[in-house]
Amino acid sequence: MEFISQELDDYVCAHSENESAILNELNRTTHLSVLQPRMLSGHFQGRVLSMLSHMIQPKNILEIGTYTGYSAICLAEGLQENGTLTTIDVNEELEDLAKEYIEKAGFKDKIKTMIGDATELIPQMDEEFDIVFIDADKPNYINYYHLVFDKVKKGGYIIADNVLWSGKVMLDSDPADSSTQVIKDYNSLIHNDPRVQEVLLPIRDGLMIARKR
Ligand SMILES: C[S@@+](CC[C@H](N)C(=O)[O-])C[C@H]1O[C@@H](n2cnc3c(N)ncnc32)[C@H](O)[C@@H]1O
Repeated sequence: MEFISQELDDYVCAHSENESAILNELNRTTHLSVLQPRMLSGHFQGRVLSMLSHMIQPKNILEIGTYTGYSAICLAEGLQENGTLTTIDVNEELEDLAKEYIEKAGFKDKIKTMIGDATELIPQMDEEFDIVFIDADKPNYINYYHLVFDKVKKGGYIIADNVLWSGKVMLDSDPADSSTQVIKDYNSLIHNDPRVQEVLLPIRDGLMIARKR
């Protein structure tokens, strides 16, 4: 499901900051050489993530779901001078490409890639984060929220992608489709959690932003 018309989307992109040359190259390379390129955040959402990061001015960011590194680079653009972003992906085949572009974008010293299952790696981390970006396997969204919550600073943000799930969140549940049910449960959980202030932005496939009170 497209939430806005192609014409409006074109207008929005044409009046938002351009992708850098490196991000544009990564976008094209991902589409040419990697499976499921729709997973990449892309120009508009990438600019939104960069803008949010610049507004928050984070010292530490955790990203769950690196893929080819596009959103990690966008989020890293707003890091404080000595800030760092840690990004986790279970797919080791993507690591070389992600690292190549992280270096080309000038973030070699700021972005740390980790390979492994995020549900196993997060409990081993002892850092505190200003932003956590959840953009990995949907059935684990609620697990990720609980796993990161105590690692998010007071006033920090948990941002989750794909929370509209192509509009399937509005449909009755199909027991065979666990991702849709978990996303619906995730949105309800955040909406009813008094520990956070939340807003669901209908950007691309939906961004749920939760601010820890
Ligand atoms: C939607 S893509 C991430 C896109 C990326 N954030 C971007 O916007 O360019 C989801 C990624 O999550 C990774 N993933 C899936 N399950 C995971 C898990 N249990 N732990 C860590 N990464 C996982 C996949 O390998 C995939 O690369």
